[in-house]
Amino acid sequence: MDKAKIKAFVDRCFNDMAGAMSAGLVYVGIRTGLFAAMAQRGPMSVAQVVDASQLEPRYVEEWLNGMAAAHYLIYDPAALTFEFPDEHAYLLASEGTDHFAGGMFHMAPALLAVAPKVAEAFVAGGGIHFEEFGDDGIYALDLINRGNYQHRLVDYWLKALPEVTAALEAGAAGLDIGCGVGYATLALATAYPNSQFVGIDLDQASIDQASINAAEQGLTDRVRFIAEPLENLPAGETFDLITACDCVHDFADPQTLLSDLRKRLNPDGTMFVVEPKASDRLEDNCHPIGAMFYGFSVFHCMTQSLAAGGPGLGTCMGPGKLAALVQQAGFARCEQLDIKSNVNMFFAVRA
Ligand SMILES: C[S@@+](CC[C@H](N)C(=O)[O-])C[C@H]1O[C@@H](n2cnc3c(N)ncnc32)[C@H](O)[C@@H]1O
Repeated sequence: MDKAKIKAFVDRCFNDMAGAMSAGLVYVGIRTGLFAAMAQRGPMSVAQVVDASQLEPRYVEEWLNGMAAAHYLIYDPAALTFEFPDEHAYLLASEGTDHFAGGMFHMAPALLAVAPKVAEAFVAGGGIHFEEFGDDGIYALDLINRGNYQHRLVDYWLKALPEVTAALEAGAAGLDIGCGVGYATLALATAYPNSQFVGIDLDQASIDQASINAAEQGLTDRVRFIAEPLENLPAGETFDLITACDCVHDFADPQTLLSDLRKRLNPDGTMFVVEPKASDRLEDNCHPIGAMFYGFSVFHCMTQSLAAGGPGLGTCMGPGKLAALVQQAGFARCEQLDIKSNVNMFFAVRA
C-alpha cells in the first residue's frame, strides 16, 4: 500500500466529516440569525455576538469556535474577535437574493435525518416519500430555489425565449407542473399581468403554502394552485407555456406525465424545463457539485421516486435522458438553452 495515498485519503475523510459538521453549523447560523447578527459588523467579541443575537452564550461561543475552525469566520487570537467577512455574508446573510447559498445548508439536516431509513431501503427497497421530509424539506427546497425564481426566471432565464415572453405579455395560459410552494408561478404572474397561471403539485402541504403566498401577493385572481394530478384538470384545458422546474427527474411516472403534458401544450407552445446541472457521464460529474447532487439524489430525489413506485431517475438525470424521455412522450424538439448557471441547466421542449 502507498502510505502517501492513505495519508491523502485520511485528509479527505476528515475534510468531508468537517464539511458535514460545518453544514450543520451553517444551518444553525442561518436559522438562528447568527450570521445576520454578524453581517457588516466587523470583528466582534463573543459577548458582542451574544448581545447582538440574544442567544445562549455557551452555544454562541462554541458555534463561533466551530465556524472559525472551518474558516467561515476570521478569528483574531490577539483581539479574541470573530469576523464574518462581507464576501461570506454575500452568500449566507442574503436570504431572498439570487446569490443566497443558505438553502443548500438547510437541505443537510433534512436529508441526513432520513439516512437511517434510506439505508434500510437499500436492503428492503422502496424509499422515503416526499411528504416524509415534512415542512423542513419543503422549506429547504424553497430556500434553494426562491431567489432564482424571483430574480432570474423572468429577468434572465426566459429572455432566452423571446417568443415565449411576447406571448406572455400579450396574454397566455401557463402551467407550472411540480410547482412546490409556487414562487416560479408567482414570479411569472407578477411579470405578466395579462396571463393566467395554474400551479400543480401532488404535495398538499406545498400547495397550501403556495396558496398562502398567492394570497399575500394579491394574485389569486390569475393564479390557481391545485394539489391534484394533472389528469384532473378540465378536459381541453391547454397551455402556451408549461414550466417544469427541478421536478422532471422526481416524477414517479415520467413517461405518462410527460405524454399528458405534451397533450396539454398548445401547438406553438413551449415547455421550459429546469433541471440540476449534470452530465450524462458519471466521469464528468466527479466534482463537488456532482458529489452534492448524488447525495441529494440518494437521500431525496431518487428515494422519493422509488418510494412512489417510480424509476428513481435521480438528481443527475442529465440532458441525454431528458431528451429521450420527452421524445418518447411525443415532443418533437428538445433544445438545451445557453443560460449560465453553476447548478441548473435549461431546456425548451416543443411539440
Ligand atoms: C424538487 S421539488 C421542486 C419544487 C419547485 N418546482 C421548486 O423548484 O422549488 C419537485 C416537486 O415536484 C412535485 N411532483 C412530483 N411528482 C409530481 C407529479 N406527478 N405531479 C405534480 N407534481 C409532482 C413534488 O411534489 C415536488 O414539490
